[in-house]
Amino acid sequence: MDKSAGFPLALALLVFAPLCFCQNNNGGKLYPQFYDHCCPKASEIVKSIVAKAVAQEARTAASLLRLHFHDCFVKGCDASILLDSSGKILSEKRSNPNRNSARKFEVLDEIKSAIEKECPNTVSCADILALAARDSTVLTGGPSWEVPLGRRDSLGASLSGSNNDIPAPNNTFQTILTKFKRQGLDIVDLVALSGSHTIGNARCTSFRQRLYNQSGNGQPDYTLDPSYAAQLRKGCPRSGGDQNLFFLDFVSPTKFDNSYFKNLLAYKGLLNSDQILVTSSAQSKELVQKYAENVELFFEQFAKSMVKMGNISPLTGSRGEIRKHCRRINKS
Ligand code: HEM
Ligand SMILES: *[C@@H]1O[C@H](CO)[C@@H](O)[C@H](O)[C@H]1NC(C)=O
Ligand SMILES: *[C@@H]1O[C@H](CO)[C@@H](O)[C@H](O)[C@H]1NC(C)=O
Repeated sequence: MDKSAGFPLALALLVFAPLCFCQNNNGGKLYPQFYDHCCPKASEIVKSIVAKAVAQEARTAASLLRLHFHDCFVKGCDASILLDSSGKILSEKRSNPNRNSARKFEVLDEIKSAIEKECPNTVSCADILALAARDSTVLTGGPSWEVPLGRRDSLGASLSGSNNDIPAPNNTFQTILTKFKRQGLDIVDLVALSGSHTIGNARCTSFRQRLYNQSGNGQPDYTLDPSYAAQLRKGCPRSGGDQNLFFLDFVSPTKFDNSYFKNLLAYKGLLNSDQILVTSSAQSKELVQKYAENVELFFEQFAKSMVKMGNISPLTGSRGEIRKHCRRINKS
C-alpha cells in the first residue's frame, strides 16, 4: 500500500474511534454511561433476554443474581466464573459452591451472542453479569439501581479462590463476615446482600446437617423452628436426596421482598448461614429486624451493597480483555 494513504487512514481512525471503541478513561473507575456511545443498546438487550428467560422459569432470576456474587468474590467481577475448563484453565464451575448448583450459564451465552451481533468486541461478559443481576432483581419485584460499567474479562479462573473465598452455608458468622471484609464489604452489606435469599432454591445437601446432627450430638439445630424442621426432613432425608430442592424463602419464593428477614425472626431460615444472622451477632440481628420492618430500607441498602459488590477489583484499561465468548478466552 502507498505510504501516503496512511495519514488519512489514521485521521479517519482518530475521528471515528470514539464511536467504535469503549475505553475506560475514567481513572479505572466504573460508570453507568460506559456503553452509551459504543453500544447504546447493550442494556436493553440484556434486559429483554433476561426477561424472556425469567418468564420461562422464575428461578432464573435467582440463579443469575447468584452468578454475579460468585463471580465478584473470586478475584473480582471479571466473569472468571463463566470460563469452561480448557488448557491451563480449571473452571470455577467445578468448585464446591458451584458444582451441581451454579446454573443458567446458557442465558449469558445467549445475551453475549446477541450483543456481539450488535456491537462486536465491545461489551464484557463481566458487565453483562452485573446488568443481568440488576435486571433479575427488578423483574422479581426488587429495587433497581444504575449499574456502573466498564469491567473487562479475566484471562483465567481460580478454582481454589472459588472454593475458599465464597462463604459456605456451614461457615460460622465470624468466618462469613471475614470473607466479606476481605472483599471490602461490611456487616451491613453482609445482611443486606443475604437478603438475596428472598428468591431461589437450595439443595438438601446445603442444610441437611441442621436437620439431623447440627453439632455432632445427633440433635437438630435448636435455632430451627421444630415444625419447619419436620417439614424439611420430609424432603431431605438423613441420606440420599442430596439434590432435592427447597425454597430459600418458603413464604414468597419467587418474589423479591423482605419476607426472608421475617422468616429469620421466626427461626425459619433455611441455611445455617441465614439463621446465624439473628443468633450470632447482636449487630446483625438489629439489621435483620430493621429490614423485616421496613422493606424500603432493605431495598435502598440492597441496591447500595450490590453496587459495592459490583466494584470488587474490576479489570479496567488494558487489563484483561473483552471476550468474544463468555466460556473461553479469546486466544488459548
Ligand atoms: C452470606 C453468605 C452466603 C452463603 C453462605 C450463601 C450460600 C448459598 C447456598 C448454600 C445456596 C444454595 C446452593 C445450592 O444448594 O445449590 C445459595 C443460593 C443462593 N444464593 Fe447465596 N449465599 C450467601 C450470600 C449470597 C449473596 C451475597 C447473594 C447475592 C448477592 C446470594 C444469592 C443467592 C441466590 C439468589 C441463591 C439461589 C440460587 C438459585 O436458586 O439458583 N447469596 N446461597
Ligand atoms: C461443612 O460442610 C462441608 C461440605 O459438606 C463439610 O466437608 C465440612 O466438614 C462441614 N464443616 C463443618 C464445620 O461442619
Ligand atoms: C453426629 O455426628 C457426630 C460427629 O460428626 C458423629 O460421631 C455421630 O455418630 C453423629 N450422630 C448421628 C446420630 O448421626
